[in-house]
Amino acid sequence: MNAVSLVLLLVELVCLASGSQTPLTLSLDNGADNWDKEPDADATGNRIFNSASELLQLWPGTVVVQGHSLAPCIIPAGHIFYHGRGNKYMPNEPEWLAFDFEHSYFFAWGRDPHVLTLAAKRPLRILNFDGLSAHLSGETQTIIMYGEVRQGHIPTHEISNRLCTWAAQHGIDGFIRMEEHFELIECDFASSFELLESLRIIPQDERTKDERRIPGERVKRPDGWIGSLPTNSQKEVDVAGKWHDRAPGETRVRVQYDKFVSFYDPAVTSLVESRRGKPREQQNLTTLSRADAQMKLAELEAALARPWDAGSGVDWASVLHVVVERYGERLELLAHTLNSTTRSSYEIAYKARQQVLMMLTPHFTIEDTPGSGVGSNKAWLAPVVQRCASMQTRGLPPNGLLSPQEVLLRGAVEDVMNEICRRLARMFALAYDIEEESEKINASSVASAMLAEVTDLMTWLDWTQVWVKCKPACTIEELCLIPGHTPFGGGGDRRNPKCVRKPNA
Ligand SMILES: *[C@@H]1O[C@H](CO)[C@@H](O)[C@H](O)[C@H]1NC(C)=O
Ligand SMILES: *[C@@H]1O[C@H](CO)[C@@H](O)[C@H](O)[C@H]1NC(C)=O
Ligand SMILES: *[C@@H]1O[C@H](CO)[C@@H](O)[C@H](O)[C@H]1NC(C)=O
Repeated sequence: MNAVSLVLLLVELVCLASGSQTPLTLSLDNGADNWDKEPDADATGNRIFNSASELLQLWPGTVVVQGHSLAPCIIPAGHIFYHGRGNKYMPNEPEWLAFDFEHSYFFAWGRDPHVLTLAAKRPLRILNFDGLSAHLSGETQTIIMYGEVRQGHIPTHEISNRLCTWAAQHGIDGFIRMEEHFELIECDFASSFELLESLRIIPQDERTKDERRIPGERVKRPDGWIGSLPTNSQKEVDVAGKWHDRAPGETRVRVQYDKFVSFYDPAVTSLVESRRGKPREQQNLTTLSRADAQMKLAELEAALARPWDAGSGVDWASVLHVVVERYGERLELLAHTLNSTTRSSYEIAYKARQQVLMMLTPHFTIEDTPGSGVGSNKAWLAPVVQRCASMQTRGLPPNGLLSPQEVLLRGAVEDVMNEICRRLARMFALAYDIEEESEKINASSVASAMLAEVTDLMTWLDWTQVWVKCKPACTIEELCLIPGHTPFGGGGDRRNPKCVRKPNA
């Protein structure tokens, strides 16, 4: 603990002590800062915000792999999907579809490799499993399959059979999971898709040489072809997946946020203890009770039974995204500025004050000054914090016009905004008088107290979609990937990705 936070703590302790001698109702107005309250350690508004704001983005689900939600989505009519296989026929049982050709090409093998092009015949109703759900995070799927969380390997045909049996009972056409790209498990091809084309696709160069994968099934080169065939096509899956890394993510899928079911819902009490004090990486559904699993399943099924695409009309994807774009890069710059080793402490604190003030400026009026009560008193910032914290949500319809799931989302946005604004105001209070020439002001301790504040805030928010990236950024010839990551697990430090060369670059 540094000097300034020690002083603040002492001031708070003194306030608490003197407050305890007055009636409780008065103690808040008694010089204390009633806006400055830490979020409860078990509160999950930040995590509900993470799950919802990261949906259908590849990158954040690759960094923190564990899924925590069930998100009903619509795929509009007319979107094209691809399916690679060893013959030309449309599947008549549950099968996997790719959003981009590159992802299906890999599966076109055997003696008669084909890639089928299919179009959605009507708006499709899909359930999305977040996280790296095709490989490293299967817990939310087991709740659909068995009504409770189960661990361990489940054969693929059992996954698709059980999911599709449930889907048929609830008007769902398929499921989305994620690996290096999103994949669609389609339950009933004939009802959902029109086959536009079934192409005997040009073979991958490696498959015309390598017999190891399927012995005796080396693919024949096209008659008369000279030179190489497409090479490195497996790595092109990463290339295509990365097109959907960050917001707006995979735009061919429209999330129905009014039906978004989150396992970070405070009503799910069986996860609270196992989650406490752990980073997101170690938060999962292993301890979810059967009763809680059944409760969330019932919530999902009730949400699916309500009309689709007919909710409050609130554009939740943008409500969430505006918060991330407004503060993501600014907080990152603030942390960078405060962490400078080349500038003077005064210069650092001065610049940080300016950055924080700019973030708070929309909420400051000429009435909002401390008057003569500067010092450690932060109470004068209350109206600024209050305006700042309510800015993103005060225009939304009242809760009575929102679905229960939207009420949870609104609470999550409010919790996140509260904490951002609280931390900004605490930082501004620290630096407010930095330009005064006073021996009492220690710029170095102001800067280090501010760095602690912004670091805590960024840890609490954990916006991997903005803050986890290759540093320095990759060149046009490279992809930013997690070291050692393969579709079937492994992977090094997921928060320290590295640039690797693009195939054929
Ligand atoms: C769930 O998290 C706990 C730690 O919080 C860990 O011990 C356990 O291995 C995790 N389980 C899965 C399936 O990830
Ligand atoms: C500050 O810099 C140090 C060393 O350069 C680094 O380890 C640390 O992560 C940085 N902190 C922040 C908040 O950027
Ligand atoms: C300012 O505070 C730092 C600790 O943050 C301390 O090391 C330094 O001696 C202080 N400088 C003055 C002039 O008091």
